[in-house]
Amino acid sequence: MKSIRDINVSNKRVLVRVDFNVTLDKQGNIVDDFRIKAILPTIEYLIENHAKVILMSHLGKPDGQVVEGLRLDPVREKLAQYLNLPIIKTQDCIGEAIVEQVLKLLPGEVLLLENLRFHKEEEANDNKFAGELARLGEVYVNDAFAVSHRKHASVVAIVKHLPAYAGLISEKEIRILSEVLEDPPRPLAVIIGGAKISTKIKLIKRFLGFADNILLGGALANTVLRAQGMAIGKSLIEEEMVGEVKSLRLTDTKLHIPVDTVVSADKTGKGKMGVAPVGKIGGDELILDIGPETEKLFGEVIKSAKTVIWNGPMGLFEVEQFEHGTDAVARAIISCSCRSVVGGGETTAFLAKHGWVDKFFHVSTGGGAMLEFLAGEKLPGIEALK
Ligand code: 3PG
Repeated sequence: MKSIRDINVSNKRVLVRVDFNVTLDKQGNIVDDFRIKAILPTIEYLIENHAKVILMSHLGKPDGQVVEGLRLDPVREKLAQYLNLPIIKTQDCIGEAIVEQVLKLLPGEVLLLENLRFHKEEEANDNKFAGELARLGEVYVNDAFAVSHRKHASVVAIVKHLPAYAGLISEKEIRILSEVLEDPPRPLAVIIGGAKISTKIKLIKRFLGFADNILLGGALANTVLRAQGMAIGKSLIEEEMVGEVKSLRLTDTKLHIPVDTVVSADKTGKGKMGVAPVGKIGGDELILDIGPETEKLFGEVIKSAKTVIWNGPMGLFEVEQFEHGTDAVARAIISCSCRSVVGGGETTAFLAKHGWVDKFFHVSTGGGAMLEFLAGEKLPGIEALK
């Protein structure tokens, strides 16, 4: 895989696929700008080396149509603020008018194309669309590790049209995630939370054979409790996954699931809440966080680990009353003397909210991409660069 650092970018139009898929609130404001901050070193590198920088990204799921609320203007504003530079933003990502605009770029200038997913051809990995995008640059850089698990035109088909290089984020993600997969300092503890076990089952299976400890929290642990025949009241589960979960080695001593939980009949946090040991959860109750005994147990495992991988919250952390378990896990990792690798949109949003991003060895920009990489899958976007 060739790196952006292997070429002379001076005076060249460098077309960079980035991942500005950030969370927006109802007013269209950026809630978490972690991914924007992460890309700044790449842009600064290109500016310092006199490249003409053309950035392209998707945002949300507009399904091949123009959705006004998913334009990249809020991202342009944030970027301009962080780089302290004017950023040119186009109204589309392909077409003659856009070609004209990019041809006027001077070295050191930065232009941001409109949301790629306004064209259905992007997600279809359409070769003609990739060719249209490629007209804009002289070299292509993939610095969107977070979308490299998608076989999309700006990630895969485009490499047929331009010389392709890995950007600084992609290189760093691949290096660090490969290291923890190949030869991590041990003991290795893997903490997996979040709602859906279906998106993480491959990872759990892989690490059951490789990690020293696996800690499960969040609603995905409810499906495991159900598979063990435990009463879980009205808690969120994936019924269709129960069978597959039963086939895991649930009695493996390296697998740790909650021993107690925070429950309430009301997930807004306004109703009565309490702690219930597993096995004693009422019929009307919902499991909304891990309980204090589980926090203690998980804390001990984390304390003794030399490498920790963490993806997914331990409870309904968006509601303050149910963020204690996620908070406790984050604090335990911060205070352990271990190599910590963290990822997933919700987990990184939680860390960003608390200003803790810098306290971890590596916070991945990837959600699904990190999970697939760690589960041993080949990412189409990374394969395309090889
Ligand atoms: C992500 O947020 O994980 C990436 O940007 C990919 O987004 P997607 O799941 O909408 O393809």
